[in-house]
Amino acid sequence: MDDRMIIRGGRPLRGSITAQGAKNAALPVMASALLLQGRRLILERVPDLQDIHTMADLLRHLGAQISFEGGRMTIDVPEELKWETPANLVRKMRASSLVLGPLVARCKEAVLPLPGGCAIGSRPIDLHLKGLTRMGASIDLEQGSVRARTDGLSATRIALDFPSVGATENLLMTAALTPGESVIENAAREPEISNLAQALRAMGAYVEGDGTGTVVIRGAKELESATVRIIPDRIEASTYLLAGLMTRGEVTVNGINPEHLGALLSKLDEAGVAVEASPDSVCLSSPGRDWGGVTLTTSPYPGFPTDVQPQIMAALCMADGTSVIHESVFDSRYVHVEEFRRMGCKIDIQGNTVVVIGVPKLTGAEVRASDLRAGAALILMGLAAEGETSVCGLNHVWRGYERLMEKMESLGADMEFVPGSEREE
Ligand code: EPZ
Repeated sequence: MDDRMIIRGGRPLRGSITAQGAKNAALPVMASALLLQGRRLILERVPDLQDIHTMADLLRHLGAQISFEGGRMTIDVPEELKWETPANLVRKMRASSLVLGPLVARCKEAVLPLPGGCAIGSRPIDLHLKGLTRMGASIDLEQGSVRARTDGLSATRIALDFPSVGATENLLMTAALTPGESVIENAAREPEISNLAQALRAMGAYVEGDGTGTVVIRGAKELESATVRIIPDRIEASTYLLAGLMTRGEVTVNGINPEHLGALLSKLDEAGVAVEASPDSVCLSSPGRDWGGVTLTTSPYPGFPTDVQPQIMAALCMADGTSVIHESVFDSRYVHVEEFRRMGCKIDIQGNTVVVIGVPKLTGAEVRASDLRAGAALILMGLAAEGETSVCGLNHVWRGYERLMEKMESLGADMEFVPGSEREE
């Protein structure tokens, strides 16, 4: 029997929490440390999450020394690095692919088993590899691993077919250690990209235009030690605000940049949910009456974030009205719908579009998380449902949410962690 989280729903969540450092900013910034040679990168406000420890283990395997205490991570990178990455770590986390560019730039060679990660559609890295090839790397696929090598990379112009977050990050890091001017067109514009650019600038690379679709990089032959502060996690913050909405309570998230939540806040406004934003916090108080249905399409930043799609779908399952959700970033991010139906939701999947008919109440059930954000959405459903919900597949949740139970309980949630046991069948 798996570890389970038992949630007794129907209690309004009230109070405030502080956002963790952004997982999806810390991971690429950690990988960028590989660009250093005999130097040190210090990161502040790093969340204590499973994925962060997986990336740290991967960097240690390559030769880095890492200490991580109280949100502060110090990465000391040796003169010589290994450039073959171990399958057992790479398969655990798709973000492992972010070490590919830095290793090719730094060691002129890298071997990366094709990554694993969440169960959300096929997740190739063809755009990463195309960009590296443009810069002068030769790529071979051998027994399920990518082998990249080069006699020397050259700065160039790269146009991405899709504004892939990971491809933008890999190529940004590679160009930062490639002398000359590179330009990435149709680059991803997420705030996490700008955090990485900030780190690369602190190390001595010239990076301009991050946050827009065109990024200009003038790489350096060698980069310097630096310190960088990780931005707050906009996806975690969105999850807690929606918990406040669904439980008809009032939740404030502190330590965030409300601009990073623009798409969510305007969708909530459309649904009749007002929020109060200050320069570094957002307060959502659930409207006295129900909220309305909306139509939304997920898209790359600044569009509606795909990583909040399961969570907003959960909220729309309780709306007074019908909603239409179109997932345009991943090709099958609806694995959670089946689990939602077990709690009384009325959802119809039509290709990559979902029609959600709001129901007056949800009922507790035994449900299983299939990926990180689906797990978070199921927890929100349990908090809002009548009766008891048991959520398993929690390993997915711990990958992205630091101290989730502590934070939820501080807001008044009634949750209990029940460790799995070998004894039960
Ligand atoms: C990042 O993944 C995030 N992960 C994901 O968050 C997030 O869902 C995603 O960006 C989109 O915002 C991290 O930052 C560690 P992509 P990434 O490359 O970089 C296709 C979470 O919940 N694609 O922008 O893998 C791909 O299949 C995680 O924290 C290619 O086809 O996302 C997908 O359909 C889940 N070829 C789409 O693009 C490529 O070479 C978006 O992928 C690369 C991507």
